[in-house]
Amino acid sequence: MYQIFSTPTCAKSQQVLPELCSPLGSSTPMDSVPLLRRPGQINKNIRRKKELDKHFKDQFIIDAGQKHFGPVSCKTCGMVYAAASPEDETQHAQYHQRLLEGIKFVGWKKERTMAEYWDGKIIVVFPDDPKYAVKKAEDVRELVDSELGFKQANLSRPSKIKTYLFVSNDRKIVGCVIAEHITQAFRVLSEDVHRTDFEKLKTVENQRAWRCSTEPERAICGVSRIWVFKLQRRRGIASRMVDTVRNTFMYGSFLSKTEIAFSDPTPDGKLFATKYCGTPNFLVYNFIS
Ligand code: ACO
Ligand code: ZN
Repeated sequence: MYQIFSTPTCAKSQQVLPELCSPLGSSTPMDSVPLLRRPGQINKNIRRKKELDKHFKDQFIIDAGQKHFGPVSCKTCGMVYAAASPEDETQHAQYHQRLLEGIKFVGWKKERTMAEYWDGKIIVVFPDDPKYAVKKAEDVRELVDSELGFKQANLSRPSKIKTYLFVSNDRKIVGCVIAEHITQAFRVLSEDVHRTDFEKLKTVENQRAWRCSTEPERAICGVSRIWVFKLQRRRGIASRMVDTVRNTFMYGSFLSKTEIAFSDPTPDGKLFATKYCGTPNFLVYNFIS
């Protein structure tokens, strides 16, 4: 038995390919509220860059020696925008400020440091920590949720989550993992079964589809969110954060890779989880049926 999901809400894929979505029924793991991810938000920077490239290719624009021409990528926040467009400039300025404010880390008197590295450290925030720490964790989660495109960002059991933050040496929060207790998860199935259906869905949903087993498996820790600042990716930050989660989530035990699961993974999340877990058949939970 298996079922096919796509990362955006399944309601969307039901409209497109109704036969490919089967309900989870009572086996849906609901340790937290289902996350409603806006499909349009995923990898929007990549799409934005393509759109801008096309726009500039299609249009005959005279380069009269402006300072910036064509799409540019901000070296500080990573946003890709058209420097020549006032609308884009405004959007960038707003995003830039919000991001820098959100990831700024002033340092706290009492920090729970879980790991230290040459390029930063990992701290954890519990829900009953001082208000300033909880507020910072919430601010970062809001940034992450807006990048992931979550419509409904509430956690159903905020009192149970642990927020791990990677703080760089220059005092910026460049990574975040929100971990929660779960009891069961479902294994992602390999893509080669029913290739035709999968290919169909792949075309429509642009590789966001994944299928998983209907058989629940025991799991202990759910990765509700995982995010690394765009300009710091592929430096092992997410891997080190999940290692730290596994090492510290449950007092006195080191969780194996088969005891952790990922909530409704994005394409990036899928690529990361596949590499990190050493298998494309990693565990998932908390998806929409
Ligand atoms: N493409 C291909 N392979 C990847 C990618 C990618 N985008 N990201 C990670 N990997 C694989 C690589 O094999 C990588 O090793 P390598 O760099 O030596 O080849 C390995 O995973 C480990 O990667 P890390 O460097 O540890 O991961 P990183 O710090 O870059 O963070 C993350 C990965 C969190 C997915 C980041 O890309 C990100 O924040 N993306 C945007 C937000 C997002 O989509 N998060 C996942 C949501 S799913 C969820 O929250 C449960
Ligand atoms: Zn910027």
